[in-house]
Amino acid sequence: MNGRRILLVVSGGIAAYKVPEIVRALTRSGHEVRCVLTAAGAEFVSPLVLQSLTGNAVRQSLFDAGEEGAIGHIELADWADAVVVAPATANLLARLAHGLADDLASTVLLATRAPLLVAPAMNVNMWEHPATQANLTTLRERGVRFVGPDAGELACGWEGQGRLSPPEEIAAETGLLLGSLSLAGACVVVSAGGTREPIDAVRSLTNRSSGKMGYALAAEAALRGAEVRLISGPSHLPTPAGVERIDVETSLEMRDAVLADFERAAIVIMAAAVADFRPAEASERKIKKEDLAEDAGLQLQLVRNPDILAEISAERGNRIVVGFAAESHDVLAAARRKLKRKGCDLLVANDISRADAGFETDENAVILLTPDGASEELPLLPKPEVAARIFDRIEKLREDRR
Ligand code: CTP
Repeated sequence: MNGRRILLVVSGGIAAYKVPEIVRALTRSGHEVRCVLTAAGAEFVSPLVLQSLTGNAVRQSLFDAGEEGAIGHIELADWADAVVVAPATANLLARLAHGLADDLASTVLLATRAPLLVAPAMNVNMWEHPATQANLTTLRERGVRFVGPDAGELACGWEGQGRLSPPEEIAAETGLLLGSLSLAGACVVVSAGGTREPIDAVRSLTNRSSGKMGYALAAEAALRGAEVRLISGPSHLPTPAGVERIDVETSLEMRDAVLADFERAAIVIMAAAVADFRPAEASERKIKKEDLAEDAGLQLQLVRNPDILAEISAERGNRIVVGFAAESHDVLAAARRKLKRKGCDLLVANDISRADAGFETDENAVILLTPDGASEELPLLPKPEVAARIFDRIEKLREDRR
């Protein structure tokens, strides 16, 4: 398992004294660890110890301007590939089950979309209390995974279930959690944004693509455990957590970058708006009006760019290749022709004539088309939601192929 980003949430119980061992086991496996301590957690384990072992500042408060300035709580929630709560007290389980967000730990737990592993530790009577058991059922139903608690002698003097699982076991379960993500071990290449084709030293041909759809796809692939390579045209969007971004400008650079990662890719998604044409010659100097005849226009000679999607579709082997289609009229018929021409496994068609979807918007309404003639029209949805639906379809295609 490659090194991943683990957020370790530590709540207040005597078992917190074992947390440094959990951190060591996780970092030994190559993971990067950041810790969030609840106020009670800080009574049992020193932030300084955790900071020294993780090499990262330990976060304790939602309202510390300095800490929030360095990395905000939502950033922290987004940063994690997996979140581990150890030890989890009865109180933290209750707050998690009921969606409370009254301190940093519970807020981050509510905000994250990363998978969650919880290692409870508490007195046996608290563990067996119907309230705790009901919370447990709720959390299990929501997909939260649990490790322990083990039975034995408890710090409070009672015997029974309530001991924190051994640190090595918690680390191993974390590995399983990461490995069980649906795209774990798969390399996903996503191209995004528009390309920029230079005319001269200051001018270029480009298009209105913002990159939002491609960036949302890259973020979704990372959430599903993939190794993600985001090949991006010029864009001001932040790089999603867990994503490796490669910046390119021209279509030819984008082609080179896509081909460089093609061998190891399991899935390639061409969400970029690749320029079909580029100036035949780009002047290294600025084209000056004084160099032209008085009142003369300027003729630009354009040549075709290679069609990256068609090229990789032809060579795809076992890979799943996904293309996009930006269409302004007769969307379904045009997209169907495009799917045939490009030869990819899935085509995502956009109606760019709509003002509320497509270029530069936060939402998108797309139609998913496959070569068997099937089409599925999705409603207008936020782009991250569209990305999730596209990956559901891609995973289905992978399953069918297996
Ligand atoms: N594409 C590509 N290489 C190109 C042009 C487009 O890989 N030189 C990819 C895009 O990333 C997208 C798909 O092809 O996934 C369709 O792009 P689109 O602009 O809709 O179609 P075009 O092939 O450019 O066809 P047309 O402009 O005639 O509609």
